[in-house]
Amino acid sequence: MVKKVGVAILGLGVVGGGTYKTLVEHHDFYLKTQKVDITVQLVLDLSKERMDELGVPQECRATSIEEVLANPQVDIVVETIGGIGAAKNFVQAALREGKTVVTSNKELICKYSHELEDMAKRKGCGLYYEASCVGGVPIIRTLLDGLQANRIEKMMGIVNGTTNYILTKMSNGGANYEETLKEAQRLGFAEFDPTNDVEGFDSTYKLSILSSMAFHTKVPYMNIFREGITGLSGEDIAYGKEMGYTLKLLAIGKQSEKGIEARVHPTFIPSSHPLAGVNDSFNAVYLTGDTVEDIMLYGRGAGALPTASAVVSDVIHAATHSDIKYSTFKNKETAERGVKFVADFSSAYYLRLSVEDRAGALAKISGIFAKYGISLVEVVQKGKTNDKEEPKVLLIIITHQTTERAVNHAVAKINETELATVDALIRVEK
Ligand code: HSE
Repeated sequence: MVKKVGVAILGLGVVGGGTYKTLVEHHDFYLKTQKVDITVQLVLDLSKERMDELGVPQECRATSIEEVLANPQVDIVVETIGGIGAAKNFVQAALREGKTVVTSNKELICKYSHELEDMAKRKGCGLYYEASCVGGVPIIRTLLDGLQANRIEKMMGIVNGTTNYILTKMSNGGANYEETLKEAQRLGFAEFDPTNDVEGFDSTYKLSILSSMAFHTKVPYMNIFREGITGLSGEDIAYGKEMGYTLKLLAIGKQSEKGIEARVHPTFIPSSHPLAGVNDSFNAVYLTGDTVEDIMLYGRGAGALPTASAVVSDVIHAATHSDIKYSTFKNKETAERGVKFVADFSSAYYLRLSVEDRAGALAKISGIFAKYGISLVEVVQKGKTNDKEEPKVLLIIITHQTTERAVNHAVAKINETELATVDALIRVEK
């Protein structure tokens, strides 16, 4: 038997437009393959030009959220507006009306899924957000329906296309951050105000959602260590490359007896790691489960049709499943009591130092590392700095696994000496 389902789309931007096109163009395909007759009943957007561009019929053009919610033929509301202003109000209003919501909005889900899920539960309707994380890559469905057999021990993701594009270009061409960002903006890979992406906020929202699902407990974004890519220099990317490492902005989540570790920061990974080959604006998530071992999902994390693929898959899922799954954990704004977060995480480190060219300087520096129990794997001298008055020796150090606290203490102590300064510090995931 064919099920009839009506959809309303709020917001006809890149993702909303892609969703509209996909639903209209694939209507007969879904009828045949999924036995579901999905029609776009209404579309809400301020731009008449955009409606015209997409060929939205006059009778499908809504002028207010009230009109959308009052329409009994609308079963599923798709929110593709973004942000936490109108989008939040509209999603709340839809859930209050008992309409199932499908959203691509990571900030909304990261910050308010506890409230929205409560509303959905009260009304017995669904709240789906596959498109909120890693665009077209079906990571949420995989965690929910493909990997339930596992305790997820670790996830490492390249979950932001803008920063991956910039780092790939810096790595290939050696251009500096500012120039590469400008080029990315010119080509449409970075926004006019790139803060959300380059400072790691976007990745933090996604990691909060994904690690909560993977570890079955709320991982609030406030508990995630965050460092963006703005302070990076092409010089370090090149030195790292020579030593067999590739630089990526990673979202890392780990669960162990010590607690949960969640962090977003630039990370050197061995160039042989599968994530090192994820280039340009592509995204990937590399998961380790106790049963499946390692698994990687790769694809486009943004863009009209790749993200529409995730939105429409949620619509089809909602239309074809009567059972609704909510979070497996107590979904609240803050972490559950008793859940430990590892603030002083362990990592290996890459450090670039400028060191006075005099006897005993190296011994003094290694003494400081030894004092904090930090063992060094590689120490490479890279010639002299460009300092004309008093050129210094450029030193690259890779440490063994140590703690963030130990390395910060050591860096502060080195900077206190007259002998050396630490000019770059990048975490290394082996
Ligand atoms: N700004 C995001 C990115 C788009 O660069 O990946 C999708 O979340």
